[in-house]
Amino acid sequence: MKRYLVTGGCGFIGSNFIKYMLGKYSDINIVNLDLCTYAGNLENLSDIENDKRYTFVKGDIGDEKLVKDLFQKYDFTNVINFAAESHVDRSIKNPEIFVKTNVLGTVNLLQRAKEHWLIGEDKYKDGVKFVQVSTDEVYGSLGEDGLFSEKTPLDPHSPYSASKTSADLFVKAFYDTYKFPCNITRCSNNYGPYQFPEKLIPLVFNNACNLKTLPIYGTGLQIRDWLYVLDHCKAIDLVCEKGRIGEVYNIGGNNEKTNLFIVKSIISYVHDNVNTECSEALIKHVEDRKGHDLRYGIDASKIKNELGWEPETPFEKGIVLTLDWYKNNKKWLKNVTSGAYQNYYQMMYGDKNE
Ligand code: NAD
Ligand code: TYD
Repeated sequence: MKRYLVTGGCGFIGSNFIKYMLGKYSDINIVNLDLCTYAGNLENLSDIENDKRYTFVKGDIGDEKLVKDLFQKYDFTNVINFAAESHVDRSIKNPEIFVKTNVLGTVNLLQRAKEHWLIGEDKYKDGVKFVQVSTDEVYGSLGEDGLFSEKTPLDPHSPYSASKTSADLFVKAFYDTYKFPCNITRCSNNYGPYQFPEKLIPLVFNNACNLKTLPIYGTGLQIRDWLYVLDHCKAIDLVCEKGRIGEVYNIGGNNEKTNLFIVKSIISYVHDNVNTECSEALIKHVEDRKGHDLRYGIDASKIKNELGWEPETPFEKGIVLTLDWYKNNKKWLKNVTSGAYQNYYQMMYGDKNE
């Protein structure tokens, strides 16, 4: 039986991943280690919290004793490291915590896993693996042409992407130095249920429903490649099961859109399904993000050719699934946008959005 340590499982992608895995495999055990920062929400897992195959542990991935004790107690066969500070804008305001969690926290996990799994010189217990969930942002920004492949040089621009790149390099170093059994996945922008509304899609949906201004950084012509979160979860599972040890796999939606296109799609959905007063007049072009990456685009041919993964959810379907979910989970949205969120919103956008 596989015993997973999933870190950051109370966040957006981690919570979707845990539910996907519990739904797919009956003979599985998952321990979710999460510090429950502003982005981690136990409510995201309320429907599976009593599942006997699932255990929640509140704590920091950087806590040496805690992680060591967890390895002793549960004898994990797999680690999937989602835990991170994940928001670019916050990293621009306060980079230090990104180093602490994303870099030092990852190195602690790597060390504890290596200690527990090593059985001889460069030899590890059978079937064990560490998957580092990384991002396309480590490659920097594209111009009008080309795509990021796994061979694209690393060129991060934001403190967030610099911290993720640094973590990736430690994972690579563990493979190069110790033959540590690991993979790195680098995915494009995810969208779907349970995303914290500091990120573009849930933020704009929430504001649009409340007829608040919709902040677009700069021209809004920046491009992101959007992938439905469940497709990302499937790819991570596949890499964990079948990925060649030491390899990096890019994961992408083959779905590049400008930010303006995304915002207009949300306006149109909200107009038709929530409030007919919602219109493009709510759009407000605000000061651009510092160091704003212009374009991300993923070449996901390696994971397709080696592991047979392809995105399954067309954007037109995924965006409706996503916005329907937020529409039907207003209470969730209200809970996560009260309290500290209001201070964050005021700091970022100059007004509260209650
Ligand atoms: P998120 O911000 O929604 O969730 C992060 C989770 O990590 C939260 O539950 C938080 O409480 C937890 N956490 C933070 N610091 C911790 C610590 N020190 N110890 C334990 N837990 C801690 O992030 P997300 O969007 O779900 O992203 C998950 C991972 O996927 C991140 O590593 C991110 O870099 C990567 N990723 C995200 C995207 C995306 O579009 N969201 C795309 C590619 C890769
Ligand atoms: P975001 O969801 O923060 O993801 P990332 O920075 O990881 O790509 O932002 C997606 C894009 O939307 C990015 O180009 C920044 C832009 N953006 C806005 O224009 N306005 C906003 O209020 C936010 C949060 C993002």
